[in-house]
Amino acid sequence: MEFIKRVDPEIAALIMSEDKRQKEHLELIPSENFTSPAILEAQGSILTNKYAEGYPGRKYYGGCEYVEKIEEIAAKRACELFKAEHANVQPHCGTQANMAVYFAFLKPGDKLMAMNLSHGGHLSHGSPVNFSGIFYEVIHYGVDKETETLNYEEIYSIAEKEKPKLIVAGASAYPRIIDFKKFKEIADSIGAYLMVDMAHIAGLVAGDVHPNPVPFSDFVTSTTHKTLRGPRGAFILCKDEYSSQIDKMVFPGIQGGPLMHVIAAKAICFLEASRPEFKNYSQKVVENAKTLANSLKERGFRLVSGGTDNHLILVDLRNFDITGKEAEKLLESVGITVNKNMIPYDPKPPLITSGIRLGTPALTTRGMGKEEMEEIGDLIYRTIKNRDNEKELSIVKSRVKELCKRFPLFAW
Ligand SMILES: Cc1ncc(COP(=O)(O)O)c(C=O)c1O
Repeated sequence: MEFIKRVDPEIAALIMSEDKRQKEHLELIPSENFTSPAILEAQGSILTNKYAEGYPGRKYYGGCEYVEKIEEIAAKRACELFKAEHANVQPHCGTQANMAVYFAFLKPGDKLMAMNLSHGGHLSHGSPVNFSGIFYEVIHYGVDKETETLNYEEIYSIAEKEKPKLIVAGASAYPRIIDFKKFKEIADSIGAYLMVDMAHIAGLVAGDVHPNPVPFSDFVTSTTHKTLRGPRGAFILCKDEYSSQIDKMVFPGIQGGPLMHVIAAKAICFLEASRPEFKNYSQKVVENAKTLANSLKERGFRLVSGGTDNHLILVDLRNFDITGKEAEKLLESVGITVNKNMIPYDPKPPLITSGIRLGTPALTTRGMGKEEMEEIGDLIYRTIKNRDNEKELSIVKSRVKELCKRFPLFAW
């Protein structure tokens, strides 16, 4: 920080404030995590200076002998980690990874079938405000009203009727295991491509606590910054037969020069995720989510689908008479960071919502376990129940501070 402080004190002060916020808040946003110091170092390295358009062995710039080795290592590690035939590690973000697959295999106006955003899907899965909903005819599936889980028979009948060219499996807010084999059977029955967007669960897949979509999919896209605990970025895995179409679409199709500093950080992320400690970490992420879910349930919260199989919990707040928006703000005021989220069949609009989404990847990285998850369930309950009681809220605040102090960042 010494250089930033000297050159731009305004930005330095904001970075330091954000650093303090990250250290002193309980981070429960399921799509966030804390990367390792090695990953931060790679992202802040001199690799940012290098232009390296193209692919290893076929770069459009001179001086690429070191960066292309880095890219090769990153791609090789991604393939080994997820048992894939081909990896493209250049996508700048998850949305662009999805864009590359759609652009490579669909024509504008083709049918794309994916999970409804309001049931847990992502914007890039065909939302009308996203390019995916603008360029393609989108067919959405959702979760069953009773069970709040995917109903594969219904997905099959929608697919059979609509005959989409590509089916997307994967979600941003679905707390249950996704059956990729069933999705593959559905896609095969109508001759559609299957793309799995494993952005949320990639770390759980790497840690062997969620089935791997690779054997069942034509394409797998993912971010690196969620459960996988890497830098902000993305990658695409596919069969060899699709590799040249995917690579051409990422560059020169939709991106320019790759971010070599981020690709180096992705390589480190794949290495870290291949280690036994990461398996242990992923198991704890899931155990912690189950413990937090039970702690909330015991205190009267209704959880969408009744619980969780992964890193994420969707809480229906309606019986506490508070909206997702209000709960997000209230919890933030005591140092607990969550995000408002629609619940399936939500009567409230997306900026208000009836729910909040919680996840355990970040707190598990800090080293928190069962006892802390039980306590956090209680802190969430006490905050929401005592929302007008300043004295109670200040007790919660000091318990949050104390927890953060006991589990410092980067102590692992
Ligand atoms: C399932 C899923 N896919 C894609 C993305 C997009 O990632 P990015 O924000 O990097 O574009 C997200 C982000 O939340 C996601 O949850």
